[in-house]
Amino acid sequence: MYYEIDLDKIDTNAEPPTEEPARQYYFMAKCREWVREFEQTHGRVPTACVTTFGCQMNARDSEKLRGILKEMGYKEEVEDRADFVIYNTCTVRENANTRVYGRLGQLKPRKKKYPHMMIGLCGCMMQEPEVVEKLKQSYRFVDIIFGTHNIYKFAELVATRFVSERMVIDIWKGTDKIVENLPNERKYEFKSGVNIMFGCNNFCSYCIVPYVRGQERSRAPEAIIKEIERLAADGVSEVMLLGQNVNSYGKTLDTPMTFAGLLKEIEKIEGIRRIRFMTSHPKDLSDELIEVMRDSKKICKHLHLPVQSGSTKILARMNRRYTKERYLNLVEKIRGAVPDISLTTDIIVGFPGETEEDFEETLDIVRKVRYDSAFTFIYSKRTGTPAAAMEDQIPEEVVKNRFDRLLKEVQTIAAKSCAVHEGTVQEVLVENICDHDPEMVTGRLSNNLLVHFQGESGLIGKYVDVKLKECRGFYYIGQLSV
Ligand code: SAH
Ligand code: SF4
Ligand code: F3S
Repeated sequence: MYYEIDLDKIDTNAEPPTEEPARQYYFMAKCREWVREFEQTHGRVPTACVTTFGCQMNARDSEKLRGILKEMGYKEEVEDRADFVIYNTCTVRENANTRVYGRLGQLKPRKKKYPHMMIGLCGCMMQEPEVVEKLKQSYRFVDIIFGTHNIYKFAELVATRFVSERMVIDIWKGTDKIVENLPNERKYEFKSGVNIMFGCNNFCSYCIVPYVRGQERSRAPEAIIKEIERLAADGVSEVMLLGQNVNSYGKTLDTPMTFAGLLKEIEKIEGIRRIRFMTSHPKDLSDELIEVMRDSKKICKHLHLPVQSGSTKILARMNRRYTKERYLNLVEKIRGAVPDISLTTDIIVGFPGETEEDFEETLDIVRKVRYDSAFTFIYSKRTGTPAAAMEDQIPEEVVKNRFDRLLKEVQTIAAKSCAVHEGTVQEVLVENICDHDPEMVTGRLSNNLLVHFQGESGLIGKYVDVKLKECRGFYYIGQLSV
């Protein structure tokens, strides 16, 4: 067990163990020796920064990297001053890639000035062969490149870099392995993401995720429960279960289990007060799950249910495997079971072949469902996906115009939907000091909305009742209720 491992007791002169995670602890111990040497020569400990791009899955992976860095002896530092900068990248849309290249360009002169500096790149973008080729050609100053499947090997790769003068590249095409019990440095003391599955088998025609995250693998329920029990014992009261399609959890296990079944088990864990999950694919959302949500005291009243488009024709071309009508029926069923649930979504505008009529269908579904919030995206062509090869790609100005119209609709409706709670008293988990006012704190409602109210740092991590005085679009201004 990770908590019982003492790195200083590991014999780093012996051969590295072959089994995991023991092998990685051996390399963490090796890196720790290097860190101590650095400390002696420089009179300070080396520092590191992990910058995350992309989704919650990546954010969770970054916590694992930070945990490993901490074991090695690195201290956290802001990116501008860190001796070791790691970018955990995303490639879901083209602009995610562009940002990484831009940031790398800015790191180059720093690396030239401070040759001891290290740069690591990992995450989804690295799973694309043309990206790695480009880095090898034009970004020779990068030290370590690895992908999404071997993130657990981070310590070994860093150790390899310490003894080699060359760029270390290790990318796997896929894996069926899940390595448990590695270190982890949580961002919040009171809440945590928990992976329940990795990869995706859905192959929505626009999406690159199945190619860069590999095939769907579920973690064993025992491992998930044990992790959450340990988190609870450590003071965590809110968990966010993570997977690209949590509704298909457990299908590939030796003893299959449903997502609803897993939720029931998690519900029993003492100390956990709030359970969240993302993302739900509408095609796999079962009646059993709706019942569990209805009967649960802990599952939050929020469902992120990406619709992507309101046009059944476009949904078919997207390979989403539901129709507009089925989606609307599902929404009705959920609202029937959990009346005050907050619904949020993802929408893509400008998918190949989208006509004005198709787009009107999207506006229509937004008006019918009345989402509490929606992430809207301009379709981005991803090389290698079926949609990239489709004819009738939509001209930029048409897409831009539709995007603006959609955004306006979404925002107007969301502001009204959110305001329905105005005047009520709700339980809030206080998360942090308010970004804009040090006299205030920010908390989250069960339905995922934020509320800012007068309070001090001692409230962080606590559950308090707050009166929602005024809705300001996507958040509330409230007052502690006594
Ligand atoms: N697994 C999740 C989504 C992961 S990606 C799900 O299926 O719901 C997050 C969002 O990015 C998607 O819901 C989609 O709206 C958007 N997205 C994915 N690929 C895209 C692309 N090529 N262009 C634009 N948006 C995209
Ligand atoms: Fe991408 Fe679809 Fe998988 Fe979500 S379900 S990650 S959109 S392929
Ligand atoms: Fe991006 Fe990878 Fe997540 S492509 S959205 S970081 S799974």
